[in-house]
Amino acid sequence: MSSNAIQSVLVENRVFPPSEAVQKAARISGMANYQALCAEAENDYEGFWARLARENVVWSKPFTQILDESNAPFYKWFADGELNASANSLDRHMGTPTENKTAIIFEADDGQVTKVTYRELLDRVSQFANGLKARGVKKGDRVLLYMPMTIEGVVAMQACARLGATHSVVFGGFSAKAVQERIVDVGAVAVITANYQMRGGKELPLKAIVDEAIAMGGCESIKNVFVYERTASPYAKEAGRDVPFSELLAGQSTDCPPVPVNAEHPLFVLYTSGSTGKPKGVQHSTGGYMLWARQTMRWSFDVQDSDVFWCTADIGWITGHTYVAYGPLAAGATQIVFEGVPTYPNAGRFWQMIERHKCTIFYTAPTAIRSLIKASEADAAVHPNASDLSSLRILGSVGEPINPEAWMWYYKHVGQERCPIVDTFWQTENGGHMITPLPGATPLVPGSCTLPLPGITAAIVDEAGHDLPNGAGGMLVVKRPWPSMIRNIWGDPERFKKSYFPEELGGKTYLAGDGAVRSEDRGYFRITGRIDDVLNVSGHRMGTMEIESALVAKTDLVAEAAVVGRPDDLTGEAICAFVVLKRPVPTGDEAKAIAKELRDWVAKEIGPIAKPKDIRFGENLPKTRSGKIMRRLLRSLAKGETITQDTSTLENPAILDQLANTN
Ligand code: WT7
Repeated sequence: MSSNAIQSVLVENRVFPPSEAVQKAARISGMANYQALCAEAENDYEGFWARLARENVVWSKPFTQILDESNAPFYKWFADGELNASANSLDRHMGTPTENKTAIIFEADDGQVTKVTYRELLDRVSQFANGLKARGVKKGDRVLLYMPMTIEGVVAMQACARLGATHSVVFGGFSAKAVQERIVDVGAVAVITANYQMRGGKELPLKAIVDEAIAMGGCESIKNVFVYERTASPYAKEAGRDVPFSELLAGQSTDCPPVPVNAEHPLFVLYTSGSTGKPKGVQHSTGGYMLWARQTMRWSFDVQDSDVFWCTADIGWITGHTYVAYGPLAAGATQIVFEGVPTYPNAGRFWQMIERHKCTIFYTAPTAIRSLIKASEADAAVHPNASDLSSLRILGSVGEPINPEAWMWYYKHVGQERCPIVDTFWQTENGGHMITPLPGATPLVPGSCTLPLPGITAAIVDEAGHDLPNGAGGMLVVKRPWPSMIRNIWGDPERFKKSYFPEELGGKTYLAGDGAVRSEDRGYFRITGRIDDVLNVSGHRMGTMEIESALVAKTDLVAEAAVVGRPDDLTGEAICAFVVLKRPVPTGDEAKAIAKELRDWVAKEIGPIAKPKDIRFGENLPKTRSGKIMRRLLRSLAKGETITQDTSTLENPAILDQLANTN
């Protein structure tokens, strides 16, 4: 066991129960209340979810059915109910005090602040929806979004939902190729984008990338590209196809009745990486998803009317869907939406913004925390204690395991030992939080996501599906369907079954793809990392196969490639690529130049986030006699470990020395 692992086990002894004040103020106060909810779910599973569905969702047609397991694992929830997700985010607040409350505090990259109330947001969403409708977008259509973090991004998502059009948001850091593949896979009728996005003082093109994507072919389904002119800079327009927002919105009324959809209607498709093949289009429902988006805001974050909530995730990821575009609005919260990056104009930006907007609930990723720790150690001016953070009451973490050291720093310096940290474990496929502490109930243990939310039947099993005792590491599963779960992989039901409900586990148990272990004393869950070929780099999910395919697509240069992850202090995991070239193994400057060429190539194929940190060249890859790449050996090499495995079957053991050199 590495010294890191030993330390992590040791520090599990530290426990931070909620203070009496926090506990008293919270919606779920104390463990007995948590346990009572768990018992309610256990005693009457469907009754429990039906209650939450009635409390959290405004139904235009109430449901009479709850869970339909007749076509498992294609589960249905509230299947005869009807609703609209936009009405559940906005219209529900009209005529209540929330109508004139600030919905979004937008802070632009350059620091400019814009606020919109719920009333104004509803007007903007309705007007936008009318614009889309006038251009032929209708219920059942798919619309691809490639947008910066702006109010307009949220408006565009909500406007699609208002019409019953299924949105598919692609993170603004993905490449033209990635955009093209998603347009084709989801069959989008339109793209909503911006001419440019502003990040860290730089103007980065978005529209030009959409043009490039469409020019790659196969995008005949696209009738229009709607363009938010974020900056005054010119961009190329294709007459007839491209429509700036000003034109889209001109003359449109701010009144647009929400289109009721069935509870199972796909609200969105969001692509995420798997262990094999191309990214999967994770299809979510409307009813069950909206239920959990609102309920988890109220449970995990204990959101109250006076809160100022800030989730730093981009709308291109699931966290930005559930905890920016839908959850906070459905819960009637005031939220901060931030366009820029945490290090511009300096690495104190997050803390300065918390002070400026009196943020009370702050939700970010361990990777951001780790990089800001580093920055504040180098420069006291950007340390959290240089800002007034007294408004904060709850902190959250998401996206990857948080190491106890980062947890302690976050707790001490950002939360000032006053704010509980909710370490929320969940996945794109889950729709919302699964395993997380409750701020007013759960005693916290650094590095542990603690216990499942009421109704979430998370468990740890062995390969045969048998429950494992506390202390034994195994596979994380969810035993019963829950309302906000993935409904399908867009256009690929077979892959859906195989990926998430494998026959080996009986075909009805949800397999998360993560390893986990429960603590001996409390039964708390700790996520130990992916058990498949999926990497988590800075909280971003990447498939090793995807990166390998991108590398070998450089056919003039690359003969073969294998990609593995290795631990990294800052990004959690780092991408390490082993490459066999169609030319002799390069060294020195030549190796560096080719490594750069390959990194740039991967950035073009997938996006800059997929660039391998390490690239190693060899004249072959280590393989078994049957030709299988010995990935375990590659993982050891990537970590810089001495090879202790049996290498006698290798054709040419000398390649191990070659592959030890990083470029
Ligand atoms: C994977 C899902 C929906 C959250 C954003 C990422 C890892 C996520 C935690 C956590 C340990 C975590 C898992 C999971 N992960 N949150 N609190 N502790 N690991 O969503 O891109 O679908 O990635 O992120 O490995 O499987 P995603």
